[in-house]
Amino acid sequence: MFARSAFAVAVVAVVASCGVYAQEPNCARNYTVALGDTCDGISAKTNTSTYQLATVNADKIDAACDNLAVGEPLCLGIIGQDCDVVHVVASGDNCDAIAISAGTTDAILLANNPNVNSECTNIYPGEVLCTATELVYTSTSS
Ligand SMILES: *[C@@H]1O[C@H](CO)[C@@H](O)[C@H](O)[C@H]1NC(C)=O
Ligand SMILES: *[C@@H]1O[C@H](CO)[C@@H](O)[C@H](O)[C@H]1NC(C)=O
Repeated sequence: MFARSAFAVAVVAVVASCGVYAQEPNCARNYTVALGDTCDGISAKTNTSTYQLATVNADKIDAACDNLAVGEPLCLGIIGQDCDVVHVVASGDNCDAIAISAGTTDAILLANNPNVNSECTNIYPGEVLCTATELVYTSTSS
């Protein structure tokens, strides 16, 4: 009896501490924010697109990405919808050239990066694009 109630207390403590920094259970890749991190910096060093990082962590990261907290856990991608093949946009890049060099098509590039407009005029140096050769975010269940 005593052992069982001690166990119950420990479980409550663990649940309470998880509540502060809840992590996504379906997360394919976890990440902990480090000093000096920026969203595109995290994306570039972890092979995660700018779109995917923002979308998966939409409840934690604001639109300007100015609220990252050191030690904060982030999820880099959801299992089954995790693009980890990327290209960091350089000055002068365009979608045609990025798609060709990645061996994919403009249509797939745009589908995997819904934040990029159809004319590809809003990409910027340092942005991280998913360059997977297959559609990552299609799902029969949603
Ligand atoms: C990421 O963290 C969650 C919550 O702790 C865990 O359930 C999951 O297994 C972790 N994923 C990986 C790939 O470590
Ligand atoms: C990112 O992708 C490149 C190219 O495939 C690979 O060399 C590198 O190890 C990857 N980095 C991480 C953190 O997965």
